[in-house]
Amino acid sequence: MKKSRILTGHRPTGPRHIGHLVGTLETWAQLQDSYECFFLVADLHVLTTNYHPEHLQDNILNMLADWLAAGIDPNRATIVLQSIIPEHAQLSLLLGMLTTVARLERVPTYKDQARELNLQPSSGLLTYPVLQAADILLYKAKIVPVGEDQLPHIELARELARRFNRTFGRIFPEPRAQLSNAPRLPGTDNRTMHTSYGNAIFLRDTPEETARKIMSMYTDPTRLRADDPGHVEGNPVFALLDIFHADKDELSELKTRYEAGKVGDVEVKQLLAVSLNAYLVPLRARRAELYAQPKMLMEILYSGTVKAKFEAQQTLEEVYEKMGLLHSQSISEKALANNIAGVFC
Ligand code: TRP
Repeated sequence: MKKSRILTGHRPTGPRHIGHLVGTLETWAQLQDSYECFFLVADLHVLTTNYHPEHLQDNILNMLADWLAAGIDPNRATIVLQSIIPEHAQLSLLLGMLTTVARLERVPTYKDQARELNLQPSSGLLTYPVLQAADILLYKAKIVPVGEDQLPHIELARELARRFNRTFGRIFPEPRAQLSNAPRLPGTDNRTMHTSYGNAIFLRDTPEETARKIMSMYTDPTRLRADDPGHVEGNPVFALLDIFHADKDELSELKTRYEAGKVGDVEVKQLLAVSLNAYLVPLRARRAELYAQPKMLMEILYSGTVKAKFEAQQTLEEVYEKMGLLHSQSISEKALANNIAGVFC
């Protein structure tokens, strides 16, 4: 039986952190067994909120090294670089005709970003979810594994698929979001772990950097002395121990002692540093080896992109045809007839 197709992706904002690892990458790695997976490096989407041309390439390499180290397998999945396939931008433009500015202004991520940025939002930011819909529909993906924050974008992609199918004829399956059941990790300051908050532990951090970050972590603010009873609930050190500490019995005994005021924060943090570093050892070795081979990483990215390009082209031709536009093949036949093939080919 043909496997269902998945498409998902990340914006290449730099190295991945442990929140990405347990929130998405470990799930993606597993999905490769049962689905035909497309993983998108959404570099155009990065441009909606910041552009640092000098960092973009290195951010892509860092992200790719982390993806592969976490188990994304280019022999089983297709890794796609968005900006090299013009069909993403073309389909986005066409889908943009099928929604209203008012509808896009109501997307919650747009409102949040517009508030956070101290700039007038660009039209690119407004149409961010239209480009994302194009990413998904271009490959006719059925399932889109994402975090909760992305649900409004998938909803728009579904709407656009329905509207296109109704208006021009059926091409697109209606994509469905698949929520990851992994919890969002707290960062060192107990807000959600996020690259831009400065509270993240990165996969590429050394064991020493990791330990240093953990030792400076927020714990239980109500606890002033080590013999005060501590709170486990809402304590980010324990939230991370729950995920990364392998010995669950030892952990539950530690929690009991913490709540009884019998163990200090320092000891608990030291244990987390040891557990997390142990968890990351094999991954870090692979990621260092991969990151040291940028040419190979780019080759992997290009070979996935070439495969994807073929699919993207086919879909766009169908879309052109349904929308009454001339696609390149029909143009070149007509052009040939008029002896002006050279202009188009
Ligand atoms: N917007 C997604 C994010 O920030 C990244 C993304 C771009 C994406 N295109 C996509 C995710 C298509 C799923 C499908 O995480």
